Amino acid sequence: MRVLGIETSCDETGVAVYDSARGLLGHRLYSQIALHSEYGGVVPELASRDHVRKTLPLITEVLAASGLEKRDIDAVAFTSGPGLAGALMVGACIGRALAYGWRVPAIGVHHMEGHLLAPMLESQPPAFPFVALLVSGGHTQLVQVAGVGQYTLLGESLDDAAGEAFDKAAKMLDLDYPGGPALAKLAQSGQRQRFTFPRPMVDRPGLDFSFSGLKTYTLNTVAEHALADGLPDQQTCADIACAFQEAVVDTLVIKCRRALQQTGLQTLIIAGGVSANLRLRERLEQALAKIGARVYYARHEFCTDNGAMIAYAGCQRLLAGQHDDLSVIARPRWPLESLPPLASNSNNNTHGEA
Ligand code: KG4
Ligand code: ZN
Repeated sequence: MRVLGIETSCDETGVAVYDSARGLLGHRLYSQIALHSEYGGVVPELASRDHVRKTLPLITEVLAASGLEKRDIDAVAFTSGPGLAGALMVGACIGRALAYGWRVPAIGVHHMEGHLLAPMLESQPPAFPFVALLVSGGHTQLVQVAGVGQYTLLGESLDDAAGEAFDKAAKMLDLDYPGGPALAKLAQSGQRQRFTFPRPMVDRPGLDFSFSGLKTYTLNTVAEHALADGLPDQQTCADIACAFQEAVVDTLVIKCRRALQQTGLQTLIIAGGVSANLRLRERLEQALAKIGARVYYARHEFCTDNGAMIAYAGCQRLLAGQHDDLSVIARPRWPLESLPPLASNSNNNTHGEA
């Protein structure tokens, strides 16, 4: 089965074609970074309008680059939620309308299920069951995964998501949007021993996270060392970035290890934008090797938002016989645990509703 995947949940337009027999046939990503950077963050209305401009041309481009015609597409998968309502609506309208016109089934995909399954696109994919650490701009969750759609939430952030915390700390250091990668880059020239930031909630039992205290600690440290222009000197900024990153990474590593111990599982996958963080990958590899466990992640470009993960996730559900009806549905809020498992697809309802 050959599935066209469309991702428009936030500030990236992603399009891909996944073939269940041959793998990924092509993908393209258009990032709106330049559009939003002058505002220091995503402006939802501008994001929607840009998805309107870019989605169809990207689809044409991916089909041409893959040597495919529209008649070669067997189904269309689009991100249905969670995300920005207007942005989701663009992908849902285009995906649903194309599928109707081409007389093929359509399916709305859960964005975080897309992230969660992205490591499956690699040449050595992880095998079920595993623990998933989902770390993006909007989510920080530990999930026990028995199979596609069999998700048990083990813990989540009580306030900011890890990516959001990276973005806010980056703003305090006057780094450009998107802050996460910029802060990670600055941290490379930081001295690890200069500051030690708190590791939130690691001394409490359980698998929940909280990053708001760390955010305040970062803000206070910046203010304490600020010069006349309101910012610390360059080396101090790098040292703060480094201390912040160490604290977030350490917290995530401790909770991942705890989740593996609690579930008795030996496989961890990390997914979502923050899984692109090299320090997180390095620290998890070290920590998990010590307990005989292994960490898997997607290639860099499939950690952040992309169309390939949506085409892949949609394909798994379509192969199991699931598809949507003709309504165009955007779900800005959509709990991952409400998704049905692949096996119980008799009502063909991908949204987990009665
Ligand atoms: O998954 P994603 O592309 O979009 C959402 O679904 O939210 O994640 C974006 C988030 C942003 O907060 C971004 O700053 C963060 O992932 N991010 C990073 C890195 N690359 C992206 N955070 C830390 N280190 C990185 N290398
Ligand atoms: Zn995402």
